[in-house]
Amino acid sequence: MATRPIRPRRTDGAKLPRRARLKATWLLFIPLAATIAVFAPALAAAPLAGGAAAKAAVCAACHGAGGVSQTPSVPSLAAEPDQYLEWQMVLFRSGARENPLMSPIAQQLSDDDVQAFGKYFATLKPPKPPPGKLDPSQMAAGVQVMQKYRCASCHGDDFAGEGEAARLASQQENYLVKALQDFKSGARRGAGAAGAMSSVAFGMTKSEIEAAAYYLSHHP
Ligand code: HEC
Ligand code: HEC
Repeated sequence: MATRPIRPRRTDGAKLPRRARLKATWLLFIPLAATIAVFAPALAAAPLAGGAAAKAAVCAACHGAGGVSQTPSVPSLAAEPDQYLEWQMVLFRSGARENPLMSPIAQQLSDDDVQAFGKYFATLKPPKPPPGKLDPSQMAAGVQVMQKYRCASCHGDDFAGEGEAARLASQQENYLVKALQDFKSGARRGAGAAGAMSSVAFGMTKSEIEAAAYYLSHHP
């Protein structure tokens, strides 16, 4: 095995004030999905600064540029209803909804942040479905699930979401599976509509959950 030359240590960072050094570190990490895990502690150590759009650079590390996630386990936030977004941030902040990556960040958010981020992400352009050929049998199975459980009655005919009900169209498929499983198992209870999602998901089978996630993630 070839030995690699030892790179000289960067010393310039030491001259920067603490806040600026942290910011520089974030910027370095932003494009690297693999370093997501280091983010939560970094954020927990530093308060958010700047306006909603500037602060959203922090969110983009996981939720993607423009709120469109490129990471299967992380939801897109773009074009989610403002009210839904605000509720979820409050649920994470209070501990009613838990996630090792998201919870420490939510704990940093003030009420003003919650409102500003809700408004900001709600106005962004929605994600697009992934490219590639559709599986017609999974799409048909998905349509059946949508009808059986009347998903559109709360999430809207185009699944763009409404009020407390999330946008589902073109959401990350893996994330949709996880969200439905979390409602089914009781790991996630939801905010409003008196636990509407828990009672819906409780009755869903594994293959119904998969068909729903496939259909919705490919819905424009
Ligand atoms: C370290 C990665 C990471 C960062 C940075 C991050 N999030 Fe998240 N966020 C997540 C994950 C993962 C989830 C999904 C949790 C789950 O599976 O329940 C999530 C979920 C959410 C949700 C709920 C979305 C939905 O569809 O239910 C909101 C709202 C949210 N994040 C807002 C933000 C905001 C605002 C920021 C920036 C201040 C941010 N996040 C930064 C990882 C992150
Ligand atoms: C009675 C109204 C209602 C019906 C019917 C309903 N939902 Fe929901 N759904 C909601 C509400 C309200 C939320 C937000 C819950 C919360 O506060 O976490 C939600 C959240 C979700 C989420 C989480 C989204 C995210 O970004 O985390 C998924 C996935 C979901 N619904 C899928 C479905 C599917 C699939 C169906 C049909 C099988 C369905 N819903 C039927 C009201 C409903």
